[in-house]
Amino acid sequence: MNTTSTAAYNYKVVRQFAIMTVVWGIVGMGLGVFIAAQLAWPELNFNLPWTSFGRLRPLHTNAVIFAFGGCALFATSYYSLQRTCQTRLISDSLAAFTFWGWQLVIVLAAISLPMGWTSSKEYAELEWPIDILITIVWVAYALVFFGTLMQRKTKHIYVGNWFFGGFILTVAILHIVNNLELPVSLTKSYSIYAGATDAMIQWWYGHNAVGFFLTAGFLGMMYYFVPKQAERPVYSYRLSIVHFWALITLYIWAGPH
Ligand code: HEM
Repeated sequence: MNTTSTAAYNYKVVRQFAIMTVVWGIVGMGLGVFIAAQLAWPELNFNLPWTSFGRLRPLHTNAVIFAFGGCALFATSYYSLQRTCQTRLISDSLAAFTFWGWQLVIVLAAISLPMGWTSSKEYAELEWPIDILITIVWVAYALVFFGTLMQRKTKHIYVGNWFFGGFILTVAILHIVNNLELPVSLTKSYSIYAGATDAMIQWWYGHNAVGFFLTAGFLGMMYYFVPKQAERPVYSYRLSIVHFWALITLYIWAGPH
């Protein structure tokens, strides 16, 4: 990382997200160790509601997927986007907003889930005010990502950015559709869907969250960093395009199985 490229690109937000990836990785996996220990020694819940398995398990899954995994995706997408588009992120302040906004979401999750405030939808447990905050932060992320992509100095859009773009767009749709809910208080809401429809929507979301948050996003990361580390181009660029369209066109329908 030389000084010229530091001035040309926004590495600050990349560094912030990278550091928090490590921090939330330790916290999230530490929680995993703790709830795993509770399975062997149930008395480790100390007979308190806030430290019980039922409340800390969703905190573990949210922390490792959205805090640890999410920060890794923000960091690597911002980094590789700038390098492959040969341009700086379109807005430093909007990028900073995504960083602080995402950290606020995580802190609110760390408070609300042990309190037992939950919509009870797996991987979408956070209550409605936090859902709204997630939507705002995610729209800002989309603006930074696609805005920068449109300003690119290169003609071609590198395959990694197609995966990141697919991930950002699909996660927005999944999050909004599955979290449509009627608030009854600040900490409680009910899904607008009933019965079997609710179950279908929930697992259309849940499985596609795996397909797009944990798969498409991480493939975007891999398509940049694996060739970079190996110091070799992608083995077959043509196959990588087939890969992208195959995943995008099939997964969203296979998800609700
Ligand atoms: C030190 C590392 C980790 C430990 C000790 C750990 C431990 C646990 C435990 C005890 C559960 C609850 C299982 C149950 O309800 O029976 C769980 C669930 C889960 N964890 Fe972790 N975990 C770790 C790392 C991770 C990571 C890195 C991820 C993903 C990025 C992850 C994702 C999940 C998911 C999705 C579930 C729910 C699925 C299931 O119950 O099978 N965990 N983990």
